[in-house]
Amino acid sequence: MSPSSTQNSVSRVRKAVFPVAGLGTRFLPATKTVPKEMLPIIDRPLIQYAVDEAIEAGCDTLVFVTNRYKHAVADYFDKAYELEQKLERAGKHEQLELVRNILPEGVRAIFVTQAEALGLGHAVLCAKPVIGNEPFAVILPDDVIWNRGPGALKQMTDAAAGTGASMIAVQDVPREKTGSYGIVATEEFADRQGRIRRMVEKPSPDQAPSTLAVVGRYVLTPRIFDLLEATRPGAGGEIQLTDAISALLKEETVNAFRFRGTRFDCGTHLGLIEATIRYALDHEKLSEAAQRLMQDALKELGVTELE
Ligand code: UTP
Repeated sequence: MSPSSTQNSVSRVRKAVFPVAGLGTRFLPATKTVPKEMLPIIDRPLIQYAVDEAIEAGCDTLVFVTNRYKHAVADYFDKAYELEQKLERAGKHEQLELVRNILPEGVRAIFVTQAEALGLGHAVLCAKPVIGNEPFAVILPDDVIWNRGPGALKQMTDAAAGTGASMIAVQDVPREKTGSYGIVATEEFADRQGRIRRMVEKPSPDQAPSTLAVVGRYVLTPRIFDLLEATRPGAGGEIQLTDAISALLKEETVNAFRFRGTRFDCGTHLGLIEATIRYALDHEKLSEAAQRLMQDALKELGVTELE
């Protein structure tokens, strides 16, 4: 394969970018000291769900775009010698395995700094020196996707390897919500994929070309970096990933992908609550007790039926 065909088509995706340099203002005051990505669903931080999904998809190089306040994310993936020793001495083998398996062997974590929160597009551009000239994945950890079968990114990398095209995860949203999302206009779907013709950032319901919304999973060719470099600040003075993707789809095929699974927007209060409920109800040890707790809480508060 020539270098240029490597650059402009998706083959095996080994690297995943996790932009985690945002301010997380919607979770203040907690996010004054705890990065949003470290908020847990039960016992695992959001970033762990994202990392597990990337590893399942075959990624062995995880690139975290972070900022100087987010030491907790780097610390989480670092080896915790003292803790491991203490657990070992106490004979707490199960917990020891949990701590050791945060990153399996053969998977490396690389941290890149985004000095200023200049937008998601800018955050992805910060990963360029590590990604180089290969296709790569982007996962936004606050979009948690729950699925009993293969994770969303695995579904996407399998599908993208078949077509060689860049790919963006999409889901149907109620029309009145289009103003909160990037919305795509596509050709007809086959095998869960439809070629994107146009992308519009946060259109009002009457302007939206469809109700297919972009969610936080992307598989991209490295051509996106040149386009990001040429992208001027857009909405909110930020360099938007959507703008660079709009330029990309004029040059290359970019497919929308309807993944199997349920997505929770854990960047919002309700999304995090919903995800916690779902994971608790599906948890092999907690499920029954969680159901009872929820029923009791509703009864105690006098909620018999919701409108
Ligand atoms: P959000 O739009 O959710 O922003 O970013 P945020 O700052 O994290 O949260 P709020 O809106 O203030 O509550 C989407 C993703 O892009 C990353 C965020 O970390 C998040 O994963 N991001 C955003 C960056 O890494 N850098 C940026 O400059 C902006």
